[in-house]
Amino acid sequence: MRLKHFLFGLLGVVIVACAGFFAIAWKSAIAPIRPPDRTSFDQALIHKGAMLAAVGNCTACHTQPGGRSFAGSFALPTPFGTIYSSNITPDPETGIGTWSEAAFNRAMREGVSRDGKHLYPAFPFDHFTLVSDEDNKALYAFLMTRPPVKQSPPANELPFPLNIRLVLAGWKLLFFNEGPFQKVASESEEWNRGAYLVNGLGHCGACHTPRNMFGAERAGMHLAGGQAEGWSAPALNPSSPAPIPWTQDSLFAYLRQGWHADHGVTNGPMGEVTGNVGLLPDSDVKTIATYVAALMGTPSPERQQRGEQIRKKIGEDLVLASAPTDTPAGRGAAIYQAACATCHDGSRPLPFGGINFHLSSTINAPDAHNAINMVLFGLPAASGRQSAIMPGFAAAMTDEQLTDLLAYLRETFAGQPAWPDVAARAADTRSGKFQVSVRPSDGIERGPDDIGAQDQ
Ligand code: HEC
Ligand code: HEC
Ligand code: HEC
Repeated sequence: MRLKHFLFGLLGVVIVACAGFFAIAWKSAIAPIRPPDRTSFDQALIHKGAMLAAVGNCTACHTQPGGRSFAGSFALPTPFGTIYSSNITPDPETGIGTWSEAAFNRAMREGVSRDGKHLYPAFPFDHFTLVSDEDNKALYAFLMTRPPVKQSPPANELPFPLNIRLVLAGWKLLFFNEGPFQKVASESEEWNRGAYLVNGLGHCGACHTPRNMFGAERAGMHLAGGQAEGWSAPALNPSSPAPIPWTQDSLFAYLRQGWHADHGVTNGPMGEVTGNVGLLPDSDVKTIATYVAALMGTPSPERQQRGEQIRKKIGEDLVLASAPTDTPAGRGAAIYQAACATCHDGSRPLPFGGINFHLSSTINAPDAHNAINMVLFGLPAASGRQSAIMPGFAAAMTDEQLTDLLAYLRETFAGQPAWPDVAARAADTRSGKFQVSVRPSDGIERGPDDIGAQDQ
């Protein structure tokens, strides 16, 4: 009898728990509307929305290479499978043409589609939740006035049970904090604006914060360094690997123009970020720099000193290590001299010349991912503008030669031991196991002379 009671009791608890979960998980549809007239939106609002869309990088994820803007179907590889982005043009059948502003706001704030289905966090709603109603209004006006495109995304390629969207309600319960952004009263206006842009639309943490096994950003590891599209996004907190510590001024210049003399140009997916952030008014870019500089904190006297020593070193001629040529670093020195030194000895000015490796975050980074990507794929030329270019050495170099080369660069320019497993990572990068997005660097079309031009 007792056991029976217990089982009934347990069943009751399970039923109540399930009912509770469904009550939270169930989202109703928001009624469709007649697509709003394009002329009903204010031009200034549309313009503001265009800028915000750039900061949120909506185009990057919602446009297929060579496809129509915002029409979706872009394949996002995740550790769990491939997720295809939605069509966010105002096409009434396949896009968001019948979405009211309330439906759009709910998608941004809660990650729920108009019809009530939960959206995957591959759509960074865990950041966009911070966006203000006012900014969402502008984004809505911008998207609803784009040319409509009829196009539906392919079905996602996800294993059971991740293909069931209700599972996402559980994910949200565990990992999602709904916005909007709350100001921190003890911090300045500028810091708060920076925090709003970085953690909201800018979704810097989507790449710069490490994730747990459920794909959620790890609590307590805010901007401590993460992974994106086959690249490592360095820490933006006190453990930043930059040899010369970042300052508010250098962050501003780097975000604004895509390069800085102490840090080089933006590579990989970061090129697109600075290309977009650079469109913001300088006052906004400054707030981002203020916030990130505050996160990094004042560098310790030891780090400052090391930075000064590096400045001195790059003024001197590099004396090539006279290591015996039968060691990895010795063999690597020969490759460096033959293949890299002409561009990277520091005599060519940035942004077009290669950076002196004493200054390189990539060579000082905790892992070899970005260094391998750079050597294998280089920097392709941007179309229609001048950009920093580097040849890829994938065809010219074996994995063993790459291992030797990086051992030499680590020892000589970072004073650190060689990274382990370079050959294995390189082989997996070549085979496509790690999908690496190879993009041109940004920054050249907005040289230092342009700084401030936008605000005039
Ligand atoms: C990192 C990639 C990424 C970025 C950046 C991104 N999105 Fe998305 N978005 C997605 C994916 C993937 C989906 C589909 C999610 C799903 O099917 O659950 C999506 C879905 C959406 C939806 C829901 C559409 C529907 O039919 O349910 C809206 C609205 C949306 N995005 C708007 C935006 C806006 C506005 C921006 C820029 C501020 C943006 N997205 C930036 C990846 C992205
Ligand atoms: C034709 C000139 C050229 C050659 C040859 C070249 N590079 Fe580059 N490299 C560049 C340019 C330009 C950049 C982008 C500017 C910068 O350094 O930030 C770059 C960037 C890099 C970066 C990124 C640095 C950072 O922290 O942002 C690495 C790493 C790199 N190169 C490694 C190599 C290695 C290793 C070799 C030799 C195998 C090599 N490069 C050969 C021109 C060159
Ligand atoms: C799509 C992924 C992605 C997003 C979003 C992103 N970053 Fe990055 N970021 C990277 C990668 C990858 C690198 C390393 C490549 C390089 O050095 O250019 C990087 C490099 C950087 C660096 C240079 C760090 C160093 O020490 O060399 C800074 C600073 C930076 N990001 C700031 C930001 C800020 C601020 C934001 C938000 C406005 C942001 N990033 C958003 C991927 C991203």
